[in-house]
Amino acid sequence: MAEYTIKVRRYQPDGEDVPRGPYWQEFEVELDPTLSVLDGLLQARDRDDGSLAVRCSCRAAICGSCGVKVNGQSTLACLTQIGEAHERANRMNGNGEVTGGDSEQGELSPAGGNPIVIEPMGNMPVLKDLVVDMESTHWEKMRRVTPWLLDDGDPPERERIVEPEAMVDITQTIACIQCGACVSACLSMEADPDFIGPAALAKAYRFVGDPRDVETRERLYDLAQDPHGIYDCTHCFSCVDACPKGVAPMDQIMRLRRAAGEEKINDRNNGHRHEIAFTKIIRKKGTLDEAELLQESYAAGVGGKLKPSKRAIVGLAQSMPTAVRGIKSGKMRSIPKLIPGVHHKLPGDAQEHVQRIYEHAEEHKTELNLYITGEEEILENAQGDEPPEAAETGAPDDRMGGGAGSLPRTDLVGGGAPGTQATDGVPTDRTELVDEGGARPTDQADREDEER
Ligand code: FES
Repeated sequence: MAEYTIKVRRYQPDGEDVPRGPYWQEFEVELDPTLSVLDGLLQARDRDDGSLAVRCSCRAAICGSCGVKVNGQSTLACLTQIGEAHERANRMNGNGEVTGGDSEQGELSPAGGNPIVIEPMGNMPVLKDLVVDMESTHWEKMRRVTPWLLDDGDPPERERIVEPEAMVDITQTIACIQCGACVSACLSMEADPDFIGPAALAKAYRFVGDPRDVETRERLYDLAQDPHGIYDCTHCFSCVDACPKGVAPMDQIMRLRRAAGEEKINDRNNGHRHEIAFTKIIRKKGTLDEAELLQESYAAGVGGKLKPSKRAIVGLAQSMPTAVRGIKSGKMRSIPKLIPGVHHKLPGDAQEHVQRIYEHAEEHKTELNLYITGEEEILENAQGDEPPEAAETGAPDDRMGGGAGSLPRTDLVGGGAPGTQATDGVPTDRTELVDEGGARPTDQADREDEER
């Protein structure tokens, strides 16, 4: 057992004895270091103040109820060990920053006794203490993306058979437990509360990538044209860091963008053209020529001569305040950087290295997801006859709980023999995931239906 101090940001909407609005309160708790921050909160509530509002249910990183910020990081309270949270708190300075690098390497604070700071999730209105209103933000945005399968309206006699390989692409999004940690951490949403956001866009990819959905182009068109849609993400990676299930919502947004590009959707946000311009310039020059970025984004293909269309002129004019802010903030550090043709060259053969990165990316453009990350052999195995090594281990990613839809690798990666049973009994050759409540083995489902 060890003693910890937890410092909770509280909020009483209509209390009489306490001031209305937010305030901080510290609690002393006594727990084994391997127990969770949620255990600490529940102990504080039981022993010290029964009015402390905390939302939780499963206590096992499955239900997604206990999203909070611990030491400034959006996460699940039940998935965060209190001993580790204490360590991290002690490596933070007064500004909430980890000193001396990452949380593992940071220096201990001289006092060594910083409290563990627990706050409600961000980007959502606080209802009481650590309970936020997920309805007005998270669920509202979730409904915005039509989070259900739009099939051809012609129900099959038995089921729709989907190739396992086709489902690999969306397994990562299916792992989402809707905890809202990514929404809480999203910096784009902080700047633009109307941004559809990482959770809802990851959910959108779940259906865009599903071969049974018949409205793929319509979905992509809608999300590309929306000024708060897929091109509103700024690649900050905060959602990737926050997600306790390895869904990597930003990656799903990038997949949506790629799919929109493949559909040749010419969005009114200039997002797709901007991306093309970005990659083209880096390929050519190795670093970003900001001046050429503007030109290429709005008038691509004019080869150094600015011949923008009417729409491009409007876009350029609208981008001027951003350019001015970039100069003022130091992002564009000198006026010459805004003059087309004036851009420094990379030293030595650095540009060739950049070229080689592009060539490698083009040769190996098949995208791997959470379940088959990083190793080409695994992908080859996944598409060939041999079950991949990773699948043989049957070990799901350690961030994956047993939540609805969090399927172990063996479910969907394997190119094994038809009927191969995964560890949870889901047949690998007959994946039917219409319902987000998790895949039931179809045979088991049939048996249940018969019993009923
Ligand atoms: Fe933490 Fe269910 S209580 S995810």
